[in-house]
Amino acid sequence: MSASGSLQKRLGVGLTLGMTLLWLAATVGTWRVVQHELDEVFDSALEETAQRILPLAVLEISNREEPQSAQLVATLKMHKEHLTYLVRDARGKILMQSHDANPKIFRKTPAEGFSTTEKYRLYGASALRDSVFIEIAEPLDHRREAAREALLALLLPLLALIPISLVGTWLFVRLSLRSVMAYRRAVEARGAGDLSPIKVLRLPAEIDPLAEAVNHLLKRLRKTLEAERSFTANSAHELRTPLAATLAQVQRLRQEAPEGPLRLRAAKIENSLRELARLSEKLMQLAKAEGGGLLAQRPQDLIPLLAHVVDEWRQSSGRQIELLLPAQAGVYSTIDPDAFGILLRNLIENALKYGATEHPLEVSLSDQAQLRVVNGGPVVPPARLQRLTERFVRGQSDASGSGLGLAIAKAIVLGINGQITLASPAKDRQDGFEVSVWLPLASTTQG
Ligand SMILES: Nc1ncnc2c1ncn2[C@@H]1O[C@H](COP(=O)(O)OP(=O)(O)OP(=O)(O)O)[C@@H](O)[C@H]1O
Ligand SMILES: [Mg+2]
Repeated sequence: MSASGSLQKRLGVGLTLGMTLLWLAATVGTWRVVQHELDEVFDSALEETAQRILPLAVLEISNREEPQSAQLVATLKMHKEHLTYLVRDARGKILMQSHDANPKIFRKTPAEGFSTTEKYRLYGASALRDSVFIEIAEPLDHRREAAREALLALLLPLLALIPISLVGTWLFVRLSLRSVMAYRRAVEARGAGDLSPIKVLRLPAEIDPLAEAVNHLLKRLRKTLEAERSFTANSAHELRTPLAATLAQVQRLRQEAPEGPLRLRAAKIENSLRELARLSEKLMQLAKAEGGGLLAQRPQDLIPLLAHVVDEWRQSSGRQIELLLPAQAGVYSTIDPDAFGILLRNLIENALKYGATEHPLEVSLSDQAQLRVVNGGPVVPPARLQRLTERFVRGQSDASGSGLGLAIAKAIVLGINGQITLASPAKDRQDGFEVSVWLPLASTTQG
């Protein structure tokens, strides 16, 4: 996932690691207790056996004709002994031994109590005032195997627990974060112009204040932007009437002025006023493009709108404009018809103004609602091309303009969640300029 790290992964790994460590600590503790208890049980069995055998051995020895001779206890059936024993006198002379007993594993001189050698656990007891000793040896292997099995039984569940914990945490966190994901999608799905509050149900208590803060911020941003836009729109609107009146006055002045420098100066003023009027018109368009209301309530068929605007330009400019339309009957989009008109007018105006006059201008609409406006002319360098959609940025041209047309087009396209790309040279050509716009397509059944 992203460089900031996934919560799901962190919790999954962290909890599993924690659980594994705790389990291991618990296993070690339990294992030590089990080992201790096992030792106690085995020791008590050893002691019990010694105490049982000793009186019998003493009786047997004292009944012998030659008490001091050693005797191997015969077995009824050959078997491998688990416990072996020696009966010795105080000096260590063997008086009796079990058939499998190996005297080397016992201490040199007999002693009472428990002791442990490398491989055996020994227990000694005495009778007849320390003159007869019995010692029993039990191999340690037996105890070790029991302890090993106990340890294995404690560790085995971990094999299943680790994957269960990983998958479980992953699923649980995913489930818990569902509403956060929905919130993220709601934010991502927004167009640049949509600053309405984001509503998501049942966010976790930790995230809820964040969502509230975001909505609060959006509200403040919306208010600020609205104030800025309404100021631009109002100023442009307020300028319109006095500008029109002044223009009319200047036109009359020019007509009435005698042939000469005064008429020329009046003509210059008239031109500047026209530029001013155009600028205020563009500012109004920009204010509309950056404001809301770029999406229509119901999907509109773009074909008649496009044909109408192209016809208008054909008549007003007297230039040839090729219009390429898809074969199907209608292309429906959710863009507001006024916004679509503004977008189209700016793109066609540019193509007529900056395109080479010897090439016809090409306007096309695909069935996927991709609008292309292509004109001939010199190639625009990539570094300049990138910046053309910024406000008040213009290319190298003698034609007058304010540098707002493409900024208006971009603002409209972002506001409807579409996409705009500029290309120079135009696609499949060596020269020229191309603007492509992907408009949001609406299914025709809605229209
Ligand atoms: N179709 C085109 N062919 C060649 N260059 C273009 C084309 N469209 C735009 N440009 C270049 O991009 C620049 C910016 O265009 P934009 O429409 O934003 O501003 P403008 O046309 O200069 O002014 P305005 O549209 O505000 O009157 C233009 O100055 C021009 O150099
Ligand atoms: Mg322009």
